[in-house]
Amino acid sequence: MDYVHDFRELRRSARRRLPGFAFDFIDGSAGREAAAARNVQAFADAEIHPDPLHPRARETRCALFNQSYAAPFGIAPMGGLGIIDGRADISIARAAAACDVPYVLSSVANTSLEDVARAAGRSPWLQLYCPQDRSLLFGLVDRAKDLGCPVLMLTVDMPMVGKRLRDIRNRLSIPFRWSARTVIDVVARPRWGLAQLVNGPLQFPNLRVPADDADDLATLMARQTGGIIDWELIATLRDRWPNALLIKGVQSASVARRAHQLGCDGVVVSNHGGRQLDGAAASLHSLSAVAAATRGGVTAIDSGLRCGEDVLKARLAGASVAFFGRPVAFAYAAGGQAAVEALLRILRHEYLCACVQAGEGSPDVQLLLRNELVPPAAS
Ligand SMILES: Cc1cc2nc3c(=O)[nH]c(=O)nc-3n(C[C@H](O)[C@H](O)[C@H](O)COP(=O)(O)O)c2cc1C
Repeated sequence: MDYVHDFRELRRSARRRLPGFAFDFIDGSAGREAAAARNVQAFADAEIHPDPLHPRARETRCALFNQSYAAPFGIAPMGGLGIIDGRADISIARAAAACDVPYVLSSVANTSLEDVARAAGRSPWLQLYCPQDRSLLFGLVDRAKDLGCPVLMLTVDMPMVGKRLRDIRNRLSIPFRWSARTVIDVVARPRWGLAQLVNGPLQFPNLRVPADDADDLATLMARQTGGIIDWELIATLRDRWPNALLIKGVQSASVARRAHQLGCDGVVVSNHGGRQLDGAAASLHSLSAVAAATRGGVTAIDSGLRCGEDVLKARLAGASVAFFGRPVAFAYAAGGQAAVEALLRILRHEYLCACVQAGEGSPDVQLLLRNELVPPAAS
């Protein structure tokens, strides 16, 4: 599967297989899509100053929250991937398990937590939005506790759904609203249409928000994600949840510090892949300040990583672990579970190759970011 080596090829292949509105749902971001572009550009522009003479073990394994993984990267939570097909959540979770990397299930995934855990043979990390009815949130947390999920990731950067112009233009709704344009789009991709027919309407079985009168995507998402998240909620979750707790969507050192003080185990530096605030800073540019404030906790990052070398850049800027979103969704759309597994193996190889070439671990290896040299993170 040669196309899995190159994100642009993967994206093209997914575009060919999906109707336009489904591709746009995954590919699109907020406003003029500047934040999404900045995320990717920041990684492309960051320069590694290598020390190839530094001896380095050829090993990528890493430990996170007392578990060992094959590499310091994983799969970011993505809700609504049933828009590709009804097997997406399970197949991606299985690919992650087969490649031994973390997989984060979204609370607005289209498959239940229990079904994903059963099918993948291990309990996923679980991402949480806060629905307007908080009792639904605590119900899901208790289910995750029963299943022994190792990590909860509370997403805080969705106080409102970002203005995603492509979805508005496509009049994206759940269930799908048919128009002449969508019919033409689907007729050109009969395999996609058939898979959706077999699966039936998209379900959101995790938060179990009643969906009867929510017929457009923004309304449904608002009810699933529109609850108020404040420090009190984070303290309550900390008391209720025995395993690791991460806060996702952090871009400031003061938020990371406060999360640490409240007993959170770390933060995910992220701007939601540019899908929320179009003016948000590139996640790589926020990383080193946040990592310095996390003080021994885990600093994860997502938004804009497109290859294994980007994982090394993230690590050099202070991340313990990095997550991929769209590359995984496009791999699945392009070639199913096998393509996701191929992508994960290639990313791991690219990461290893970059580490060896850079002499990762040498005190002389640094990252040049926006004209500032970032000192290497303590490993
Ligand atoms: C289709 C799609 C659905 C997403 N759904 C969620 C979600 O349910 N919860 C969440 O915290 N982030 C969600 N995100 C954001 C990702 O977790 C992640 O922050 C982002 O995709 C990383 O950027 P990248 O796509 O450039 O790798 C979603 C992203 C995409 C592309």
